[in-house]
Amino acid sequence: MNYQWYPGHMTKARRMMQEDIKLIDLVIELVDARVPFSSRNPDIDELAKNKSRLILLNKSDLADKAKTARWVEYFQQKGFYVLELNAKTGAGMKAIDGVVKEACREKIERDLKRGIKNRPVRAMVVGIPNVGKSTFINSYAGKACTKTGNKPGVTKGKQWIRLNKTTELLDTPGILWPKFEDQSVGLKLALIGSIRDEILNIDELAISLITFLSAEYKGILAERYGIEEEGTPLAMLEAIAEKRGCLLKGKGLDYSKAAGILIDDFRSGRLGRLTLELPEEKEA
Ligand code: G4P
Repeated sequence: MNYQWYPGHMTKARRMMQEDIKLIDLVIELVDARVPFSSRNPDIDELAKNKSRLILLNKSDLADKAKTARWVEYFQQKGFYVLELNAKTGAGMKAIDGVVKEACREKIERDLKRGIKNRPVRAMVVGIPNVGKSTFINSYAGKACTKTGNKPGVTKGKQWIRLNKTTELLDTPGILWPKFEDQSVGLKLALIGSIRDEILNIDELAISLITFLSAEYKGILAERYGIEEEGTPLAMLEAIAEKRGCLLKGKGLDYSKAAGILIDDFRSGRLGRLTLELPEEKEA
């Protein structure tokens, strides 16, 4: 499968982010905990150099707990503050304030050394589409509804939300573009639902998911669909179609319907908490 990202959007998003980031002390980057590597664009490291960095492994409710712990360790070793989060329910939200304060404390101390006093610390949220940026901003800043006015140098209409005495958050997230370094990145983003389904080959996607699950999460397909996990991935998709009564109007099995059921079960977490990649694969 071939995935495309439009250069026009990319250039505009990058330009906007470069402007915004100049005013920022802390970058809060959201990634999808099921694919922390594929759902982040490492260009942010260059764009946000010299800034404090917090990575939120969002949608952690859908990700494999043990593997998330390994990703936390990985990012911490790279020098990021890291937390796992479920922005939808707010689980993990309480810990954020403490970490933001800690990151800001560093900043305030640096300011004081340079003789700057009482300048609010400013943060912004960044991430590729669909990682949960808006959900997070609403949940995190929703309670602190005090919006401050426009600031010089920021595109008109941009607003800062005062989180507490010392910290302000830009109300609009910075949009990063996915980085399709190889086809496996595109495939994983398609699996988590970050690429419009209309342009995807759902059967191919399901076959890839079955291949992955039967290798890494043995027993999951058997448990959910009551099939034998044997034979080719196509044979397993056929077995799911049979078990679920996915029939074409004329005769024969409706593979695409079975594929849709499988992908939907994966995305919604009905197949369990699953992570598609590990830090060591990235480093390999
Ligand atoms: P974005 O701004 O980064 O583009 O993402 P947005 O907040 O719009 O979130 C994208 C989808 O991800 C939304 O689902 C949102 O509810 C869901 N989401 C965000 N955070 C979490 C999380 O921690 N866990 C889970 N399971 N889902 C999360 P949607 O399908 O667009 O809407 P809805 O089904 O919630 O109504």
